[in-house]
Amino acid sequence: MDFIDLKTQYRRLKPSMDARIARVLEHGAYVMGPEVTELEQLLATYCGTRHCVSVASGTDALMIALMALDIGPGDEVITAPFTFFASAEAIALVGATPVFVDVDPRTYNLDPAQLEAAITPRTRAVMPVSLYGQCADFDAINAIACRHNLPVVEDAAQSFGATYKGRKSNALSLIGATSFFPSKPLGAYGDGGALFTDDDKLAKLMREIRLHGQDRRYHHPRLGLTGRLDSIQAAVLLAKMEIFDDEVAARIRLGARYSELLADAFAGSPPVVRAPYIEPFNTCVYAQYTIEVENREIFETRMKALGVPTAVHYPLPLHLQPVFEHLGLGEGRFPASETAARRVISLPMHPYLTEADQVKVMQAVRQAVG
Ligand SMILES: Cc1ncc(COP(=O)(O)O)c(C=O)c1O
Repeated sequence: MDFIDLKTQYRRLKPSMDARIARVLEHGAYVMGPEVTELEQLLATYCGTRHCVSVASGTDALMIALMALDIGPGDEVITAPFTFFASAEAIALVGATPVFVDVDPRTYNLDPAQLEAAITPRTRAVMPVSLYGQCADFDAINAIACRHNLPVVEDAAQSFGATYKGRKSNALSLIGATSFFPSKPLGAYGDGGALFTDDDKLAKLMREIRLHGQDRRYHHPRLGLTGRLDSIQAAVLLAKMEIFDDEVAARIRLGARYSELLADAFAGSPPVVRAPYIEPFNTCVYAQYTIEVENREIFETRMKALGVPTAVHYPLPLHLQPVFEHLGLGEGRFPASETAARRVISLPMHPYLTEADQVKVMQAVRQAVG
């Protein structure tokens, strides 16, 4: 059993995928080719934003968003400590300081109730992460940010395709930033990412920053990056978008089925395994299906022995990463993040899991905690 199965998806898409890639090889516009424009239009329509700016990775997307907001040294950006490293890395790479706000232990997303206390005169933006494929509570976060005149950037690297109160992830705040890393809900065959906004001025700036800060050929009013999405990756994503709605529906169905099997497996016994909690107003695309167990190391070893791959997202919260030691945020500072980091473990999840796969995984879970 694969943790993520991209080969079955390729077999399903092969004729269209191969034709689209071949077209790029033939026309030769490998950078900023017609596929890039076509993809940006399609994704903007999909998310319901005025603009989509494709970029080279999710990390570049976050950095470009912060650069477009003119954030740099001396500035603080608020994010969650329980996330992939890139969320805080992007903040530090532009020279700003990450300021962490602990997560809600049920959803693992930034807890709006703790946000206001972290805002200082140096705060320049709030960057919640929509972890595991479920959006953070944007109404609550936007309202607080708005009171303090702060822009909100969604780190939507794991939540492309998810909805919050009927609206799409990436369209929930001033800027949405996503990743097309191959294992993401919408993944390329290499690195990629995209930015979403309704703001014309920001969209123009972000387009310039992804192209070395150039506003016209060889004229650079600002610094930027080699931050473009390749035409071949755009072609791959266009092919994958043909079946994306169907895959999102499958993810939602499979996530619910896992939780049902989990409830059955432990009916009547104390809750030794915690299933993901999805807010009733959210749909989750399950970039990961992540449970909590008491004794993760033993659980992990037993699952491996039973032939079921697992992964830990993520074992060390960002405030405890060696590179952020200078922030002076020790153990005990963000208890919900620290507890989650000790207990979480992700099970195989992709749209092509079968009922038999899911039953096998849950039988293994039952045995591994027993
Ligand atoms: C929450 C989060 N933010 C940012 C990123 C960075 O994306 P990328 O790997 O495309 O640079 C990722 C992806 O791994 C992520 O999971």
